[in-house]
Amino acid sequence: MRKICVITGGGSGMGLGTAKIMGKDHYIIICGRTVKKLESAVKELKEEGIEVEAFPCDVSDHTSVEKLAFYAKAKGKVAAVIHAAGMSPHMGDPKTIVEVNALGTIYVNNAFYKVMEEGSCIIDVSSMSAYLTPKIVMPVRKYKYSIKDPDYFMKKIMRSINLYPKKIRAGVAYGISKNFVIWFAKQDAARFGEKGVRVLSVSPGNFETPMGELEKEEADSYTKFCAIKRFGRVEEIASLFAYCVSESAGYLTGVDILCDGGLVASGVNPLMKK
Ligand SMILES: NC(=O)c1ccc[n+]([C@@H]2O[C@H](COP(=O)([O-])OP(=O)(O)OC[C@H]3O[C@@H](n4cnc5c(N)ncnc54)[C@H](OP(=O)(O)O)[C@@H]3O)[C@@H](O)[C@H]2O)c1
Repeated sequence: MRKICVITGGGSGMGLGTAKIMGKDHYIIICGRTVKKLESAVKELKEEGIEVEAFPCDVSDHTSVEKLAFYAKAKGKVAAVIHAAGMSPHMGDPKTIVEVNALGTIYVNNAFYKVMEEGSCIIDVSSMSAYLTPKIVMPVRKYKYSIKDPDYFMKKIMRSINLYPKKIRAGVAYGISKNFVIWFAKQDAARFGEKGVRVLSVSPGNFETPMGELEKEEADSYTKFCAIKRFGRVEEIASLFAYCVSESAGYLTGVDILCDGGLVASGVNPLMKK
């Protein structure tokens, strides 16, 4: 049976970079909301000899994600899911950011739980913001509602975000939603583990992608605190994702991997320097 790798947010940036590596020995399904972006990514990947197709999907829409998961299963063995779709503070309002990053992760994990089999792996992409946003901001006690009632979880999280001044709400929403992604992937490790499936999260620092470009003005000022004084390259995070889902990483689950060029290790928090 052919091995399928599903990549949410596969039309650009890290997702597209990962498709180029995973496509060497997997059939790739990329998804996102913008059909034109997906078509252009499919063309680029096919030119590299990769077997790929696009499946338009909005990860913040439960039905859309369920359709994606069952479509992928019908195509073969879902061996890997790289859930890279996400929205940064400059891409939307606070509610949409939480819907895409947090609710989207709940929907993706839940839908693929039904179709993934022993030996497969799912990566939920978080962010270094989950480490930089002060702990006191994180409504961690409300995260548990995500397991039984995602709508109630959403209401509780938005209530916490709306306590902050309007001009910083999108940033707070991003930090909280990505902190939640780490929490959710960790608590899901046991559930997936019973099926022999691994779940982990990866938290990128600043990377050269369309999203990285949008956040560049602020992110540039972070670089001087990094041990490696540049943005990460797409190939560097893509090969980390590819390693994490490979059999070589067969004992890696329930953990977050921070790939930020050593910014968090510096002990300096640029968010608090503003
Ligand atoms: N680049 C960085 O510096 C950085 C740093 C930390 C974390 N990250 C995280 O890394 C991941 C990949 O980001 P990237 O840097 O590669 O940015 P990117 O090129 O903007 O990729 C994000 C992709 O997600 C898709 N997407 C957004 N909302 C979606 C939705 N509701 N449903 C389905 N797809 C959706 C976008 O396509 P459509 O708009 O067409 O749907 C886009 O292709 C994200 O989760 C991001 O938060 C990035």
